[in-house]
Amino acid sequence: MKKDILTLLDIEKEDMDLLFKKAFDLKEKQKKGIVHTPLKGKTLGMLFDKASTRTRISFETAMIHLGGTPIFMSTKDTQIARDEPVRDTARVLSRYIDCLAIRTFSQDILSEFAESADIPVINALTDLYHPCQILSDIMTVIEFKGGYENMKIVWVGDGNNVAHSWINAASVLGLNLVLACPEGYKPNQGIMEKALENCRGKIEVSEDPFEAVKDADVVYTDVWASMGQEGEHTSRKRVFKSYQVNSRLLEAASNDVIVMHCLPAHRGEEISEEVLEGSKSVVWDQAENKMHMHKAILEALMA
Ligand code: CP
Ligand code: NVA
Repeated sequence: MKKDILTLLDIEKEDMDLLFKKAFDLKEKQKKGIVHTPLKGKTLGMLFDKASTRTRISFETAMIHLGGTPIFMSTKDTQIARDEPVRDTARVLSRYIDCLAIRTFSQDILSEFAESADIPVINALTDLYHPCQILSDIMTVIEFKGGYENMKIVWVGDGNNVAHSWINAASVLGLNLVLACPEGYKPNQGIMEKALENCRGKIEVSEDPFEAVKDADVVYTDVWASMGQEGEHTSRKRVFKSYQVNSRLLEAASNDVIVMHCLPAHRGEEISEEVLEGSKSVVWDQAENKMHMHKAILEALMA
């Protein structure tokens, strides 16, 4: 049966651990210049409705390194933009390509693609989740901290798509996750409840970033206004102003805390320039690891 990655709840802990192991192995292979092309002759379709730098290029590069071919499609240039139904598009694409990565607004549309397609469908970000991002982020936590067990991971800012995928990861892997979000911008209640149903970890939500980051091993933030929320940017800047990850906030965290951000970053908003460019920031390694993790995912789904 084909396997989709629509949310992190689709992946068992054992399979996630295998993905981390595989991603490190692929990273090492690449650093040593070892050619590894298990996806020769395979094609990855990439249907994107929203902007992307990292996810797009890391998936495309991952596919090329593995011997396969990525095909990028901007939704607005497809017949979807002229109302061809999702289910028709999904069935037709399934006749051409071996896997489909989608970046879109609605999680329901993504699910509709997955239901109608005969090929694996990967969530490359929706309004609700960004699962592949968090897989590569946990790879980065393992790289810098030696593992994810017993780590206090603190999310500061908007309870958004990236936060939701952290919540799912905490449930599956048993993470200690604290989210500090202002009132009205906390994670989706339904997503929280679902993650808590079979939760191996500890997930707490608070409104106080200083209390939350106490003894944190990882502090993570993301933009205050996600793609599609541009019109709320000004009002959100007011709401979130005391949620900036800056040097003063980090004083409350553990001495060897690492700072993560999925990028793109808005310096002076959710993160200060000093912290983003400072010694605790691992954001460039974090961005690199997206490519290694995407390779592991593509190999697992297609090889
Ligand atoms: N982190 C991330 O998904 O970046 P892009 O929007 O550039 O793909
Ligand atoms: N929360 C952000 C993540 C970008 C990678 C957004 O959805 O725009």
